[in-house]
Amino acid sequence: MKDKLQELKEKKAEAFAGGGQKRVDSQHKKGKLTARERIELLLDEGSFEETDIFVRHQSYDFELAKQRFYTDGVITGTGKIDGRTVCVFSQDFTIHGGSLAEYHAKKICKIMDLAMKIGVPVIGINDSGGARIQEGVVSLGGYADIFLRNTLSSGVVPQISAIVGPCAGGAVYSPAITDFIFMVDKVSYMFVTGPNVVKTVTHEEVTFDDLGGARTHAVKSGVSHFTSENEVECFQSIRKLVSYIPLNNMDAAPFTEYTGGEKDLEFLNNFIPDISNKPYDVKDVINALIDDDTFFEVHAEYAENLVVGFGRINGRSVGIVANQPLVLAGVLDLNSSIKGARFVRFCDAFNIPLLILEDVPGFLPGTDQEWRGVIRHGAKLLYAFCEATVPKITIILRKAYGGAYDVMSSKHIRGDFNLAWPTAEIAVMGAQGAAEVIFRKEIEASDDKVAALKEKVDEFTEKFANPYLAAERGFIDDVIEPKETRKKLIYYFKILENKVDSNPKKKHGNIPL
Ligand code: HXC
Repeated sequence: MKDKLQELKEKKAEAFAGGGQKRVDSQHKKGKLTARERIELLLDEGSFEETDIFVRHQSYDFELAKQRFYTDGVITGTGKIDGRTVCVFSQDFTIHGGSLAEYHAKKICKIMDLAMKIGVPVIGINDSGGARIQEGVVSLGGYADIFLRNTLSSGVVPQISAIVGPCAGGAVYSPAITDFIFMVDKVSYMFVTGPNVVKTVTHEEVTFDDLGGARTHAVKSGVSHFTSENEVECFQSIRKLVSYIPLNNMDAAPFTEYTGGEKDLEFLNNFIPDISNKPYDVKDVINALIDDDTFFEVHAEYAENLVVGFGRINGRSVGIVANQPLVLAGVLDLNSSIKGARFVRFCDAFNIPLLILEDVPGFLPGTDQEWRGVIRHGAKLLYAFCEATVPKITIILRKAYGGAYDVMSSKHIRGDFNLAWPTAEIAVMGAQGAAEVIFRKEIEASDDKVAALKEKVDEFTEKFANPYLAAERGFIDDVIEPKETRKKLIYYFKILENKVDSNPKKKHGNIPL
């Protein structure tokens, strides 16, 4: 027995050594952590239970027979985050560069299948040179097996990807299907084709970082949702995200006892500027309305004219979607519509109620937007709100103009409670534009065109730039004092906890992609 135990210990020690000290040192020298160090940072201390540690590749071509490392370059298992179970895989760059091959892929598929069976999130830590070149098409098959599982798991269990090294070629499409991508500045990069191929094909010279680094994907492409300065921060952020989301699509949004007491929100009564075009930071409103220090922004650096993120209201997780008057006056455009739609659909899939804060002058005009398909992309946000059956509460803070009024979870598209502040302006368009269109002839005929326009703008403002015409028709349920908003949200989200709503039975809808 003693010998057997010794053998087990030796085999495990061999597995824990990964690709060997030299390669571990090289990983550290690059400023990167090892696959196991990452798991330790991600999970509650001592909670990781590894599976398939003894799996090895079964290939013997190109000298592979001499390098049959245990784990086959990916560590898999289960563990806890704040006491809640998650499934994890973490690619080990010290073993064949974390490259994906037959058994490496089988391990990932196995842990993904387990996550589906027991209904828990999957967190994938990606650091890989891509398909293991020596295994050829078998590696490609392995990717496809994972892509299929990513797709079938979508909307059933949350899927989170951390990119902490290379992630290139077709390999990017697994994280791309997952719900959230985390990247680390100067450590991560993702691209379909690298700088060398780009140079050959398009003659562009571009660095790895500019082409597919964390900042590029946070700001330009919107591929990643979160950027961290280092890996420690990255894994802390993933833990934080998990605290807001349910384990699966049958689970309720998590609840964390709120002990902060009543908030004094008197300042909100004078918060909206008197001048209709004056910007303010909607994040001040968000932070005022939700439990203190609970705002967790998603996609913070992308399409900043729409703010999305998680927060808690009296302890319960909510998803927040808010127009941001500080950026482009809070207009909706292509990118913000896509960003918002994806977030709304995540919340809807995982039973997270939605709070919508509206101050939107409309969709962004211009050839650039029209030619790039603002019709098609804007429709995504509309579709997402229409289809969402989770509790939805909209607060109109100021502008709700034109089609954007409909889109931002209006009553007509199944908003459960739509409230307005007295500063709300609900109209087909802004007073200036409206006056110029409907009183054009009168203004042109007048001796003092400037004064005539002002008179008509004032008349229009007086008549339409308020919430009461909408309230008369029940399009909003109430006009409230801003300082009362949090209390109303607590009340209405509570009574909506048992909301039941559904969509017609169908295979799936056809969201305009
Ligand atoms: C097998 C690989 C590998 C791979 C790296 N290694 N990538 N082994 N298959 N794809 C091995 C190296 O041989 C080396 O082994 C170790 O991993 C570390 O690699 P280095 O090159 O020393 O590391 P570094 O300098 O950091 O460069 C990292 C890298 C580079 C940029 C990722 O390794 C690289 O370019 N790799 C090839 C990338 C690639 O073309 N992959 C296939 C893409 S196509 P030793 O023994 O020396 O430690 C693809 C299709 C997927 O992925 C399609 C899905 C649909």
